[in-house]
Amino acid sequence: MISDIVGRLRAAGCVFAEDEAGVLIEAGRHGDLDALVARRIAGEPLEQVVGYADFCGVRVRLRPGVFVPRVRSELLVRIASDEAAEAEAARVVDLCCGSGALGLAVRHRVPGITLAAADIDPAAVACARDNLGADVVHQGDLYDALPSHLRHRIDVLIANVPYVATKHIPYLPAEARDHEPRTALDGGDDGLRIFRAVAGPARGWLAPTGLLVSEITEAQIGRACAIADENGLTATIASDDDLDAYAIIARPDPAR
Ligand SMILES: C[S@@+](CC[C@H](N)C(=O)[O-])C[C@H]1O[C@@H](n2cnc3c(N)ncnc32)[C@H](O)[C@@H]1O
Repeated sequence: MISDIVGRLRAAGCVFAEDEAGVLIEAGRHGDLDALVARRIAGEPLEQVVGYADFCGVRVRLRPGVFVPRVRSELLVRIASDEAAEAEAARVVDLCCGSGALGLAVRHRVPGITLAAADIDPAAVACARDNLGADVVHQGDLYDALPSHLRHRIDVLIANVPYVATKHIPYLPAEARDHEPRTALDGGDDGLRIFRAVAGPARGWLAPTGLLVSEITEAQIGRACAIADENGLTATIASDDDLDAYAIIARPDPAR
């Protein structure tokens, strides 16, 4: 059976066909294995097919149509966790939370945090509620979704916003283009439209010593730092070559 599945996955272009066959067989133990294999062969991301992703040491539940957490986002988790560990019962917000993977991973590393998460997409909110709990996850447009008592009190604001420039969307892998919602990917003309909308009001939500951390591309570093500066934030850049990841870390500038 396994060699048949491996062969069909390989023919469909799956690079890690043996590994994927093992994951599908395990997931199909209590269900319809043929249906799972068929969905994968049709191009759906493996994580959406089996209903989970292993990310930063936690198992994240996933639903069809919800953004699959990327390995490179471990950089955001590391930065957020290090910062959260510095404060007692740090208030951490996972804005644009998707499945809630980043907040879940930070809470796993620093269990004492108070976590809130939010997303605009009802499917993502439902998925994040599976992972984080119903009372933690809010639905709405960026800060509109957050409880007002968090104003000026957020210690760590994680915002893995959509940051693909619109003109680059056609070059994404079909798995992303066809199975992840456009709202999870498209960052507008320069990819920084949502980051601008997050950075703009950030000072009004961050604690004086809080930070905002967002994933960006190498090409976006200059513009992202300028956006932070225009909004009274002091920015630094973190990167990880192995993860091929860049993050902007922005803090309220006490001089402004
Ligand atoms: C790149 S995905 C990141 C998801 C998750 N944080 C992760 O890393 O796996 C971006 C998420 O932002 C959400 N989003 C896009 N525009 C938004 C907005 N205006 N307000 C709230 N969430 C938004 C999308 O629905 C999507 O879930």
